[in-house]
Amino acid sequence: DAAVLLLSHVDYRTGVLRDMAAVTELAHAHGALVVWDLCHSVGALPVELSRAGADFAVGCTYKYLNAGPGAPAFTYAARRHHAHARQPLSGWHGHARPFDFTEEYEPAAGVSRFLSGSQPLIAAAALEASLELWRRVDLGQVRAKSLALTDLFLELTAEAGLECATPVEHARRGSQVSLRHPDGYPMVQALIARGVVGDFRAPDILRFGFAPLYLRYVDVYDAATALVEVVASGEWRDPRFARRAQVT
Ligand SMILES: Cc1ncc(COP(=O)(O)O)c(C=O)c1O
Repeated sequence: DAAVLLLSHVDYRTGVLRDMAAVTELAHAHGALVVWDLCHSVGALPVELSRAGADFAVGCTYKYLNAGPGAPAFTYAARRHHAHARQPLSGWHGHARPFDFTEEYEPAAGVSRFLSGSQPLIAAAALEASLELWRRVDLGQVRAKSLALTDLFLELTAEAGLECATPVEHARRGSQVSLRHPDGYPMVQALIARGVVGDFRAPDILRFGFAPLYLRYVDVYDAATALVEVVASGEWRDPRFARRAQVT
């Protein structure tokens, strides 16, 4: 009886890449619309929303798109939904005639109806600079580099003996590697102290993201070596790494 299915294209915990076309087709066959969360795929791999028949999508631009902290989010709506979809956070920039200041709310035609209030222009300027770079980037090359980086990390960290939560198959992997260990939190903290910034997701995931545009193979080598050393030496057992911070 579900009306809407909301799914992450790349799962933020495990790094599993879902088959957007197949899942969308299945949802449609059961009468549900699909909203895709692209936060962990946009800028990391090619995303083909219209080819997959997706209905809606949302995403952030501060991760793989590199638009910086506080960069604006985005939304996508398939053309077939533009005329009737209502945006619950309606604001004057989504109005058909914002400067008429009418009593009634009349949504703009097309995707503009999804806008709400005034845009954060300083953050949008940083996003524009990032997108200017992306216009010159071949996403096929980005994906190839991402897979090569994550392959290398998987190969080098195997020695640490941690269980891997991320699929080994390329077709099912995003641009991250998630490893499992009950003491993942202090292990990540010990790595951060060495300058390797991963993060921890409860209950037991050590998560490493790979931004293909600027990350080098030597960075991956250094990070993997640090992880193997942290685990083997037990340096993560230092009590200062067990202190829980709000950001994990
Ligand atoms: C799955 C997922 N969706 C959305 C977001 C972004 O949320 P917001 O733009 O509110 O920071 C994130 C950020 O970590 C995420 O991992």
